[in-house]
Amino acid sequence: MKLYLKIWRQKNSQSKGKIVDYEIDDISPDMSFLEMMDVLNEKIIDEDGDPVAFDHDCREGICGSCSMFINGEPHGPDKLITTCQLHMRRFKDGDTIYIEPFRAKAFPIIKDLVVDRTAFDRIQQSGGFISINTSGNTLDANTIPIEKENADKAFDAATCIGCGACVASCKNSSAMLFVSAKVSQFSLLPQGKVEATDRVLNMVNQMDEEGFGNCTNTGACHVECPKGISLDYIAKLNREYVKANLKK
Ligand code: SF4
Ligand code: FES
Repeated sequence: MKLYLKIWRQKNSQSKGKIVDYEIDDISPDMSFLEMMDVLNEKIIDEDGDPVAFDHDCREGICGSCSMFINGEPHGPDKLITTCQLHMRRFKDGDTIYIEPFRAKAFPIIKDLVVDRTAFDRIQQSGGFISINTSGNTLDANTIPIEKENADKAFDAATCIGCGACVASCKNSSAMLFVSAKVSQFSLLPQGKVEATDRVLNMVNQMDEEGFGNCTNTGACHVECPKGISLDYIAKLNREYVKANLKK
């Protein structure tokens, strides 16, 4: 396959970026999208150029690093997959592909397609955990009965990989889907109820401090989320937040 790539190049957060054109040939339809990017970078390096910076780690849909816009969609045209799970057979010989970084005030560009998503880490650090003293008193997990429905919902919420596609696809750059998944995965389980009040207040406050926008129920976040996190979790987050404010 021959492809025409239009890629956002930007040296650092301070410099002005621009779309740069590249042509690439001999791309197998069986390659993953990131393998195609590797081939491009080898070509750029052979020509003494500066390779395109992009984030990646697991390359199997787990870590959430490989975030980029492909033809205007976070993680590209397929649903419920990450960029690293996208294959070149999804494109046609001669296609033009636009590749851009996730854009949001709270995700400043570091270089090219790499954005700084440590705002998500700080939200997690503000409450996305449970505190348990495990010194000699560890309980067998199965001694605490949990309703199947709640266990399933908590598991679904826990599949959020923190990729940021929800923020990038939202016209307000809202992080509500991410925060709602992180709050819900704990609040649905007995172990998470002890710190539930502080957790939701701290995480929502941190989200606001980081400069994410408000949720206006557009739903683009759910459509573009590679893990299909449901909007129901945002409704749950809102209920948890109101409840916590009444308790404080
Ligand atoms: S909610 Fe979905 S889109 Fe948002 S960070 Fe989690 S996995 Fe990514
Ligand atoms: S590289 Fe880990 S999810 Fe894509």
